[in-house]
Amino acid sequence: MPAAAEGSETFDEAERLSQDALRERQLTRLRASLQHAYDHVPFYRESFERAGLHPRDCHSLGDLARFPFTVKDDLRSQYPFGMFAVPRAEVRRIHASSGTTGRPTVVGYTEGDLSRWADVVARSLHAAGGRPGHTVHIAYGYGLFTGGLGAHYGAERLGCTVVPASGGMTSRQVQIIQDFRPEIIMVTPSYMLTLLDEFERQGIDPRTTSLRVGVFGAEPWTQEMRREIEERFAIDAVDIYGLSEVMGPGVAQECVETKDGLHIWEDHFYPEVVDPLTGEVLPDGAHGELVFTSLTKEAMPVIRYRTRDLTRLLPGTARPAFRRMEKVTGRCDDMIILRGVNLFPAQVEEVVLRTPGVAPHFQLKLTREGRLDQLTVRAEARPDATLQERTTAAGLIARAVKDGIGVSVAVEIVDPETLERSVGKIKRIVDARPRDRG
Ligand code: DLL
Repeated sequence: MPAAAEGSETFDEAERLSQDALRERQLTRLRASLQHAYDHVPFYRESFERAGLHPRDCHSLGDLARFPFTVKDDLRSQYPFGMFAVPRAEVRRIHASSGTTGRPTVVGYTEGDLSRWADVVARSLHAAGGRPGHTVHIAYGYGLFTGGLGAHYGAERLGCTVVPASGGMTSRQVQIIQDFRPEIIMVTPSYMLTLLDEFERQGIDPRTTSLRVGVFGAEPWTQEMRREIEERFAIDAVDIYGLSEVMGPGVAQECVETKDGLHIWEDHFYPEVVDPLTGEVLPDGAHGELVFTSLTKEAMPVIRYRTRDLTRLLPGTARPAFRRMEKVTGRCDDMIILRGVNLFPAQVEEVVLRTPGVAPHFQLKLTREGRLDQLTVRAEARPDATLQERTTAAGLIARAVKDGIGVSVAVEIVDPETLERSVGKIKRIVDARPRDRG
């Protein structure tokens, strides 16, 4: 284990809570959050009233299931500041998610929110193996996206030296990693691959850098991707999860000593998993859509926010007080339905990364021929792959997708360095179907 990841001591008192103490704290905070939302956000007051409920009706954590969900469109309908529960002057920071369609989703933070956010990111970084005095290179984008600034203040809170690199200018990133010698990097896994190419282009062996731990999130990534990155950089790769509506990065974090899913910082974010179609709450262990209720947020409490992320809840391990969520490998929104078969980009990632001769870069292109949707997996050849290896790879990928997922796809092995590289969150799906019909 690298020096950065030694020991598994906890970061703060909340991590040592007993289950009972945690549940008690959650209930107190839940009741206060429901009341706060009801008192200060007309949207919540109306939605609770429509359901015939009052915050007083919440007597147990289970009672939360009686309250209505909140969805992204609800937040959009209140654009820009309608979901805020404090006077505008008490809002210290605003972030927004770009949103591919329509209005962005705006989120706000009070001073107290920013401080608690820094705390949970510090806790996350600590669980990842970060310690005071480490240097943390942050290549998540700074700006309205929560990744950069969220990671930044958490790393400072832990007592690290922060290099606020942000995304882009890849050749310079490589140079400052070489010169400033960070132990930790925080970046999307897809941009880490872009950095990998750049190290190699500059003739630097990525295994020789000062980096010991990578804290990767903001997009789905698979165990195969973990192995690829760990192997090629000689680092530990751990998962960080979050979303702007709930806070930003630092809602849940994988511990470096177990790498077995992400511990949800449940003293601040109460998780439920529901059936994505019926909304019924599912027992721990069952797969479904993750839903969060904020327990300590002031500026913008969220009640039963549907994340669209698919996962399941598991008991705590390295941090026994907190339940884990399984690595998120699919979003309801990213599910491709191809001739009646559901397919997620992460399933294709697993296949591509296991296939010899291809690089870990791929794209899914949807087209329509006649009335039938077609999917083409476009994967990039490794620079040293022969023509024969490329042909074999195409066959292997097509067969593995057919056997494993149950649907026929076309496979195109493209030349090295032809697929667009990520500088942040990668877009895997290219939808080239005619608009009027799709
Ligand atoms: O991506 C916050 C973040 C920044 C998390 C940096 C981790 C690191 P949004 O832009 O609002 O916020 O996007 C949130 O990204 O609902 C998931 O679909 C996806 N996502 C975030 N983390 C992970 C992860 C940030 N570790 C959306 N694994 C979420 C899979 C993730 N998907």
